[in-house]
Amino acid sequence: MKYAIPRGTRDILPDEIEYWHHIETASRSLFDLYNYCEIRTPIFEESSLFERSIGGTTDIVEKEMYTFNDKGNRRLTLRPEGTAPIVRAYIHHGLHKKSNNTKWYYCGPMFRYERPQAGRYRQFHQIGVEHFGNAHPFSDAEVISMGVHLFDDLGLANLMVVINSVGCKLCRPVIEERLQQFAGSSVNCLCVDCQRRLKTNPLRILDCKKPKCNTYFTGMPDIQASLCNECKDHFNSVLEYLDALRIPFKVDSHLVRGLDYYNRTTFEIVSDELGAQNAICGGGRYDYLVEQMGGSPTPAVGFAFGVERAVLVLQELSDILKKEVSLIYVAPIGFAQQTTCFYLVDELRRSGIKCSIDYSRGDIKSQLRRANKLGASYTIIYAEAEAEKGTMIIKNMKTGQQIEVPVDTIIQFFTNMSKEKSKNENSI
Ligand code: HAM
Repeated sequence: MKYAIPRGTRDILPDEIEYWHHIETASRSLFDLYNYCEIRTPIFEESSLFERSIGGTTDIVEKEMYTFNDKGNRRLTLRPEGTAPIVRAYIHHGLHKKSNNTKWYYCGPMFRYERPQAGRYRQFHQIGVEHFGNAHPFSDAEVISMGVHLFDDLGLANLMVVINSVGCKLCRPVIEERLQQFAGSSVNCLCVDCQRRLKTNPLRILDCKKPKCNTYFTGMPDIQASLCNECKDHFNSVLEYLDALRIPFKVDSHLVRGLDYYNRTTFEIVSDELGAQNAICGGGRYDYLVEQMGGSPTPAVGFAFGVERAVLVLQELSDILKKEVSLIYVAPIGFAQQTTCFYLVDELRRSGIKCSIDYSRGDIKSQLRRANKLGASYTIIYAEAEAEKGTMIIKNMKTGQQIEVPVDTIIQFFTNMSKEKSKNENSI
């Protein structure tokens, strides 16, 4: 019997993993540069954590959570996002009382029961950052600029920051009332979900993905016009700092995002390469969440990006990872030569040289075919004739050139070559 992979999940095969490593390594080194430390939280949490923080009338909580009762009858949910668990950890470890400037990053799988399509999965991976303890618009701009900096480092092009402000406790009721007034006059034009949301959580209607509602919303009142003066000033300062950092952005007054904890700045980084699921990264400010979850009032701002979506964009620009692979293929020809090669690959690896060997292959032709398939830069050929002379042949797989060297100089040959290579790379 064959088992199918669960719908909306993927195996990440070795062909693709290079992209993941590239993204993970670049992210870690950039976060370190900005002095962010890694935090890891459990894959599942109490369901109420997400219900209270993300919001009971959001799509995530209403339709997408993987919730189950464990054997002790506890209601648990596979985390659909990283911010709520990190706020829980921030409070749990008492950081809200002592450290007013905490910068954390995280990487890991998230789970949402969504309709799968390209760039949208039920298990997907996020890399994100959360900065606690600073309410100044500088920190919004810094977090956005860190995201842009990261995507620049990754080599992702054609990205755009889309930004909005969703107001604060003071002006949110005004925004909601204006939305209700506008939509209320023709409520029947909206989908059933939006008709309900108009009463329970009016801002959510702007996040509806249904084309019918979307066309209708084009004439909606501008959120910015309803912001209080402090929120307006905050938003204008963030835009001014982004300008000063030369980060291109577009203001979209309908960008409210799918989570309820945001106040003031919300933003997304979108890519032309991604089709319908064009948001590679989303984030914003959430100044009330720590207090709402039981901690002391602590302003915060952060973002998360989808690793699968970043991989999709990188694959479109696949030249980025087409660097030369320095792999040595070792080809023993004949059973008697395998033992020497078995020890040789061990010595090569202990000297830090990446190599591969296949004991099941016989003749030279199939060994060279295999070396080519693996993308080896050199093949070491060791047949009976070489064994008799105490030599090995080194074949350059790009040029086809071959040289014959004594067996006991092979390691030296490759270690010298890699020293030379790193000297050249560092001298640029
Ligand atoms: P989010 O916009 O829900 O925000 O998710 C962030 C990113 O995760 C999206 O831009 C997208 O790239 C990726 N993503 C979301 N759902 C899926 C899916 N089903 N399949 C593939 N990729 C997906 C958050 O989760 C917030 N916690 C971000 C944040 C951090 N805000 C403040 N701090």
